[in-house]
Amino acid sequence: MSDRRFSVAIDGPSGAGKSTVARAVAARCGFIYVDTGAIYRTVGLAARRAGVDPHSGPAVQALLPGLDIRFDYGSDGTQRMFLGGEDVSKAIRTPEISMYASAVSAIPAVRAFLLDMQRDMARAHSVVMDGRDIGTVVLPEADLKIFLTASLRARAGRRLAELAAKGDPSTMEQVQQDMAKRDEQDESRAAAPLKAAADAVLLDTSDLTLEQSINAVCRLVEARL
Ligand code: DC
Repeated sequence: MSDRRFSVAIDGPSGAGKSTVARAVAARCGFIYVDTGAIYRTVGLAARRAGVDPHSGPAVQALLPGLDIRFDYGSDGTQRMFLGGEDVSKAIRTPEISMYASAVSAIPAVRAFLLDMQRDMARAHSVVMDGRDIGTVVLPEADLKIFLTASLRARAGRRLAELAAKGDPSTMEQVQQDMAKRDEQDESRAAAPLKAAADAVLLDTSDLTLEQSINAVCRLVEARL
């Protein structure tokens, strides 16, 4: 492989399988998987802990200069998130923090605050980066852009299984409702809304197994390398 950095941008709604697919593709290609949702989640957690309304632009913006957000990678490629030196990788994975993350991510100052952190990763490494605006805003020059989606039912079913495995008692109805609300919030915001880049490859995973989705993305990467 050449020295040139290669970047894959994977965007799409929650539960489409972005993170699982992106992590597996990165591992196969020897790239770093950058989970940008985890970074927004960490800002959401900081707002929650500070007792700040996550919809209030000025209140959240006031928190930003004091935030110490970092991430690193374990030997298995897992991205760990740190807030003020504390490992918050688990704490950011609750339904409540999902809603906080979605709310703070609509604030332009939050997006601007996190932009360089994300771009620096792609400058330094070949990456598979997933999120909502990677192909449109963060890495508009990405070598490959994918918009990964699936029906609301399929996505909610997958998220429910994930939550159940962690002992979370959420019901299908709750998960579907939360997901629809979050989609609406992420798609309708003015700042970098969730949408497919004009040059993104659309991949609907509703009827694909995980392995089939991973293979489909790997084939696209190989074709561009
Ligand atoms: O991918 P996720 O579910 O962990 O993301 C959590 C929230 O963060 C999501 O509802 C929207 C926001 N987000 C964003 O606005 N831009 C990104 N690049 C990644 C996530």
